[in-house]
Amino acid sequence: MADSIQKHLLLCATPTKQKCFKGNEGEKTWQCLKKTIKKFENNPASKNIHILRSKADCLRICKNGPILLVWPDGIWYEKVSPERISEIFYSHIINGKPIKRWIFKITPFSDSPRYS
Ligand code: FES
Repeated sequence: MADSIQKHLLLCATPTKQKCFKGNEGEKTWQCLKKTIKKFENNPASKNIHILRSKADCLRICKNGPILLVWPDGIWYEKVSPERISEIFYSHIINGKPIKRWIFKITPFSDSPRYS
């Protein structure tokens, strides 16, 4: 685990014009993300790890959602679900191992960490 991590997770959870998924999968995934982060923050190991989350209205992908963008990595996940969000959180965000099979796009910012 890295000494200091700062990430921002943007989830297309409850878009005004819901185009990328059907039903309430976005809201359920958002609630699961909130719970996962809160549980992690209660762990002393989270001291140097700063995780922000935002509910994005639409991330302009509009298919195969809910869509999750991890900043500053520029890693985009598709079909995120309550089941997948916790695996993404612990594997990618905490342990630095993105889950390649759910990534559909990578648009890193200039000083983003690089993953092999
Ligand atoms: S509606 Fe989810 S990305 Fe546009």
